[in-house]
Amino acid sequence: MHILVTGGAGYIGSHAVVQLQQAGHTVTVLDNLCNSAEEALLRVARITGTAPGFVLGDVRDRQLLDELFADNRFDAVMHFAALKAVGESVRQPLRYFENNVGGTISLCQAMERAGVFRMVFSSSATVYGDPESVPIPETAPMGEPTNPYGRSKRMVEQVLTELPRADERWSVALLRYFNPVGAHESGLIGEDPQDIPNNLVPYIAQVAIGRLEQLSVFGSDYPTGDGTGVRDYIHVDDLVDGHLRALEVIRERPGVQVWNLGTGRGYSVLEMIRAFEQVSGREIPYRLSPRRAGDIAACWADPEKAGRELGWQARHGLERMMADTWRWQSRNPEGYRKG
Ligand code: NAD
Ligand code: UFG
Repeated sequence: MHILVTGGAGYIGSHAVVQLQQAGHTVTVLDNLCNSAEEALLRVARITGTAPGFVLGDVRDRQLLDELFADNRFDAVMHFAALKAVGESVRQPLRYFENNVGGTISLCQAMERAGVFRMVFSSSATVYGDPESVPIPETAPMGEPTNPYGRSKRMVEQVLTELPRADERWSVALLRYFNPVGAHESGLIGEDPQDIPNNLVPYIAQVAIGRLEQLSVFGSDYPTGDGTGVRDYIHVDDLVDGHLRALEVIRERPGVQVWNLGTGRGYSVLEMIRAFEQVSGREIPYRLSPRRAGDIAACWADPEKAGRELGWQARHGLERMMADTWRWQSRNPEGYRKG
């Protein structure tokens, strides 16, 4: 198939391009590089032996989209392009809604005009809000996401859910990611935050390499085993494998399908620190700090539906997630900027 990958220069998108190409698909990336570097796509080409098509541009640019769809016969779209910094979304809600919701609407309109009706969308476990219980199945009620980023994901899910009601040619996969971590085993591509990382694993990795001094552990009084927050960390390559399987399933099945992509098991912040120390041999200095606003105590997936319907399950355990993160970070201490 010929797949348009929006946000394909980003962390998860670049890993998706690798697997799509390795599975024999043709890939064109549309990315405005607002949170990524073209170098990631050069690295993808080193891994796969084939450079993906690349169009520098914005998913909100209607004219560009029409030209892109006119020039190519896409079979499906994997839509990763979005802004994702939770704290920034609180300060700049309009920018987040415009980019994430507005961008998706422009994209779907262009798809309709071009007669392309298959989309795999990057949603998030954040749509569950503060879950009533864990593990979380897809049937759990949508909660109240605690920030505009999370609300933008919930809004896009609502928009995409309407499409097949109006036109039965649409087939949409809403993939609710838990916490993607890790990197491609080559160490050539990985997560490259442009500022101080918001997320735990990139923060730990930058402490280990000496770019940051100390980790703040946000909250040690949660009702969890050791008092720190518990999340379902999933290797990015397992996550991406779920996308390829979802693509095959929605090819034959119109409508909207929702799948959790998680491992089904949670780890605490302190467990994550220890696991990283073990694979890297580096000490991670940390300090117990107050809770971060908007955080929940514990969140992990019930991945049974994805197992049953996609024939998918996460294969890589915590040690592999950490080893791959460390290989990427230690070989690229400054991310894509050097090396
Ligand atoms: P990322 O920032 O690395 O990748 C997003 C890419 O989209 C970047 O390359 C950016 O330049 C591009 N982009 C953003 N706005 C664009 C626009 N208007 N037009 C064109 N390109 C644009 O983020 P990621 O971690 O790879 O996340 C990919 C997707 O997965 C996002 O939709 C994100 O919300 C979602 N997601 C991520 C996580 C996570 O923890 N990483 C969790 C749940 C969901
Ligand atoms: N944490 C720290 N110190 C840090 C960063 C994080 O202790 O410097 C803790 C958090 O409090 C939390 C855990 O590490 O307990 C994981 O935090 P992340 O920021 O890595 O991930 P979140 O679960 O908060 O957020 C992720 C994605 C969001 C998504 C959300 C809901 O980054 O995009 O999951 O699924 F919205």
